[in-house]
Amino acid sequence: MSTAIVRIVSELRSIVAAWRREGLKIAVVPTMGALHEGHLSLVRAALAKADRVIVTLFVNPSQFNNAADLAAYPRTEHDDAAKLASVGAHILYAPNAADMYPPGFVTTVSVGGVSEGLCGTFRPGHFDGVATVVTKLLLQSGADLAFFGEKDFQQLHVVRRLVRDLDIPIEIIAGPTLREADGLALSSRNTRLSLTERHRAPRLAEILLQTVKQLSSGESVERALTEGRKAILAAGFSKVEYLELRADTDLASLVTMDRPARLLVAAWLGQTRLIDNVEVPLRRPAVAQQAAA
Ligand code: PAJ
Repeated sequence: MSTAIVRIVSELRSIVAAWRREGLKIAVVPTMGALHEGHLSLVRAALAKADRVIVTLFVNPSQFNNAADLAAYPRTEHDDAAKLASVGAHILYAPNAADMYPPGFVTTVSVGGVSEGLCGTFRPGHFDGVATVVTKLLLQSGADLAFFGEKDFQQLHVVRRLVRDLDIPIEIIAGPTLREADGLALSSRNTRLSLTERHRAPRLAEILLQTVKQLSSGESVERALTEGRKAILAAGFSKVEYLELRADTDLASLVTMDRPARLLVAAWLGQTRLIDNVEVPLRRPAVAQQAAA
């Protein structure tokens, strides 16, 4: 099967309207292209839940707070289209920047609360750019379901929040982070790592898991995070932007492990910024453990 490439929103809308008349369920998977297995896992999950799947490909300038990062972002539409055809996506929607942001464009969607802290601190304006483009893509597609990866855990929260706050009639479904065999989370930016950096990169996920173990064995949050930050630097990373424990449900800062949580990290390896996160299950109280034994 080939995947139709659509660039104009009116064309997308008329295809979607025809699907709707047939009573089909429609899913959308927003991406910036340079597709890897992580993206494709979301497309497969979408195909399992919907009759028609639209994958969007738009390298959104407004979410890049660094011109060099935008310029260096990989653009591989031809390969992306072939990958999408092989998994069976129905449409690749790849609009032009001039159509997404025509002259006179002045509207921004800005999500409070969950956009603050973590990546929000280190990438000013990033989540306004994400929230604005995701709102547009969800409204343009008119889909019933939208799929996002837990890899970008704060982004997932931003999207859930804006959909709720703006009453966008779409269900947000999260997919787990796909990893290389050595644990490195798949990312379009991994291709920028040198050989030495690629060799070091999986330490980030290993240290996250070690820190989770420490938290689960009752280590204080502050101490576990301090040791984790040190270990990341000792592994050859040049800078740790943050290593933080947040509540799984609303990203509230946690100083004690009293709720199901996420451990989130952003660190630089040379010129490449890597982010990752893992679940931290709530430690069962000793009484419950005894009862279960
Ligand atoms: P992009 O980085 O291309 O990611 C597209 C989707 O793939 C996101 O939902 C992201 O969380 C998911 N993803 C990335 N790596 C993954 C992995 N290793 N495992 C599982 N899912 C993964 O995120 C964006 O694009 C943009 O910000 C976007 C939402 C498209 C708005 O421009």
